[in-house]
Amino acid sequence: MRAQPAIAALRAYDPGHDLVALRRAAGPAGLLELGSNENPYGPAPGVRAAAERALAAAHVYPDPYGGDLKRALAARHGVEVAQLVLGNGSHELLMQLGQVFAGPGTEVVFPQYGFAVFAIAAAAAGADAIVVPALPADAAMPRGHDVDALAAAVTPRTRLLYLANPNNPTGTWVAAGAMARFLDAVPDDVVVVVDEAYAEIADAPEYASALPLLATHRNLVVTRTFSKAYALAGLRVGYAVADAEVAAVLERVRESFNVNAVALAAAEAALADDAHLQATTRENARQRERLAAALRERGWRVGPSQANFLLVEFGPRTAEVEAGLLRQGVVPRPMGGYGLPQCLRISVGDAVGNRRLLAALDALGIAPGREGGGHA
Ligand SMILES: Cc1ncc(COP(=O)(O)O)c(C=O)c1O
Repeated sequence: MRAQPAIAALRAYDPGHDLVALRRAAGPAGLLELGSNENPYGPAPGVRAAAERALAAAHVYPDPYGGDLKRALAARHGVEVAQLVLGNGSHELLMQLGQVFAGPGTEVVFPQYGFAVFAIAAAAAGADAIVVPALPADAAMPRGHDVDALAAAVTPRTRLLYLANPNNPTGTWVAAGAMARFLDAVPDDVVVVVDEAYAEIADAPEYASALPLLATHRNLVVTRTFSKAYALAGLRVGYAVADAEVAAVLERVRESFNVNAVALAAAEAALADDAHLQATTRENARQRERLAAALRERGWRVGPSQANFLLVEFGPRTAEVEAGLLRQGVVPRPMGGYGLPQCLRISVGDAVGNRRLLAALDALGIAPGREGGGHA
């Protein structure tokens, strides 16, 4: 059997650790899972009842159009229902975008340290991946997207350009003005996907969603997810907002009934509770700044983040730090796959979780060395 060459050469998406095995092996304190950027506060209280109601009708197919959720999303974002496509997580939509717009002989542009799925989507489409170097580690936005270089990397063969804002795994972000200028610089026939998985959590004054730019850029696609701020990672719901014509093309490759009935109902209930969203995202941002400050006080270099995780440089002793945390039931995300073996990505927990993380780190007795992983 012969897979297509690009796929034969591809590594599958790496979820980090085998969490199920780690959970089974965990001691009485349980596992503190800080490897997947989940939301420690859980979904809005109304979600469970809505999901249970949907479960009672599990013998029938879900609404293939996801109409109720789309209408709620359209109202929320001030767009037409026809501009929305639902996905079984936004990962699925990122793959569909590759399938629809890229192909053999075309180029897909994305940034170094961009979300891992971009490379998978490009390869799965048989396209050539053009990886644009990130800003340097000592830039004002360390390892952030170089939007000028991204726009300059576009050639007549480019069909698709992906970037996440805020970005995973760096946590960095592109300011509103820079994003608008970047979109102006990209030709109209190149689809620009702005992956906003963490948008609801971002609170920097200069950060803004790209959604308003849809009005002036028909080549823009914004993807969002219910996995992060809405705390529904286990149910798999994401959505894309695009020009209605682009959305219609994406619909052609969508699997029938791709979002299940429980997920549709839960997402609708989560979306309806804005107070819960605001309270939990505010708390997450507050904890993020506190955790970053505590790590910096200990001498570790922590990148600026507008998401619900931090990229922390532990230098040459990173593997030791990771193993030591795992021994104590704390699970960070290794970054070797992103070309950042000297870093760990650590999701921001709640106050209790973050205290446990810091105590576990302190117990290792590893101090930042001069060769890296500390403040200069
Ligand atoms: C930047 C980014 N985009 C997309 C996703 C995929 O999220 P989901 O498929 O759960 O919607 C993630 C998940 O970690 C992410 O970090």
